[in-house]
Amino acid sequence: MKNNIAIKVDNVTYFYNSSEQNVINDVLDCVTLSVEEGSFTAVLGHNGSGKSTLAKHMNALLLPKGGSVTAFGMDTRDEGLLIEIRRPVGMVFQNPDNQIVSNVVEEDVAFAPENLGIPTEEIRKRVDEALKMVGMYEFRQHAPHLLSGGQKQRVAIAGVLAMHPRCIVFDEPTAMLDPRGRADVLKIISMLKKRGVTVILITHHMDEAALSDRVVVMNDGKVVMDGGPREVFTHVEELRKLGLSVPDTTELIYELRCDGYKLPLSALGVEECADELAGYILGRQG
Ligand SMILES: Nc1ncnc2c1ncn2[C@@H]1O[C@H](COP(=O)(O)OP(=O)(O)OP(=O)(O)O)[C@@H](O)[C@H]1O
Ligand SMILES: [Mg+2]
Repeated sequence: MKNNIAIKVDNVTYFYNSSEQNVINDVLDCVTLSVEEGSFTAVLGHNGSGKSTLAKHMNALLLPKGGSVTAFGMDTRDEGLLIEIRRPVGMVFQNPDNQIVSNVVEEDVAFAPENLGIPTEEIRKRVDEALKMVGMYEFRQHAPHLLSGGQKQRVAIAGVLAMHPRCIVFDEPTAMLDPRGRADVLKIISMLKKRGVTVILITHHMDEAALSDRVVVMNDGKVVMDGGPREVFTHVEELRKLGLSVPDTTELIYELRCDGYKLPLSALGVEECADELAGYILGRQG
């Protein structure tokens, strides 16, 4: 059976209107990408490669100058569908401070569903449920500005979850967080994936991308690689040329291979990498 498409980006071109005349650079250059419902896609690319611009097209924050974007079958250029599109496609950004709008955690989480005109009782239920999902329920009466960066980001995610989205686009959600905050956000992402929510994660952390089903690599506004993480990360040298690294496990195996050790570059997880190394050592001894 064919899977449903959550987001379809079809031959999209975009440029920002510049104040300087004659300077029009395509920030997105004929980007085509279909994201299956329920999948977990990571988007990589060096600074300025167009990742955030692409993300903002997914829920009509930006509209394509050429080509089209459809979210759950709805064309983002159709102004009449704006609310219908923003409801199922949530966005989480890098800086939690810019996403918090209220002085009390639970009011902040209720903000977006209130604007949709959802009945108060239903909102109460959704807010409690969302705060529990991100492990922030006991902070519901707190002031968001007194929370840690990681806690604020979890509140921002709860605000998106309260909308009951079918897809969430995370634009470097862990960039400003410490390791503990990062781990908490990644745990939430893996829980969302288990619940069938479509996840698109823009990240500079290769180990985060390694958790995905699919890695899309962007360079100068184009999609230049697209495949499973095992496949994409075997292209160590090409990724380096694009200014990107690979997960630490791949790096270790890559260096060992350069020294003549015959280990598979596709061993991605820490356990898997350790098993390959142990197998190799034991094999040589046996
Ligand atoms: N509001 C804007 N006005 C003009 N140019 C912009 C604007 N936002 C982004 N750009 C330019 O568009 C290009 C792509 O930016 P974008 O933010 O999409 O990249 P990115 O891949 O998300 O980068 P990063 O990894 O730094 O977040 C860059 O050259 C950037 O300078
Ligand atoms: Mg960005």
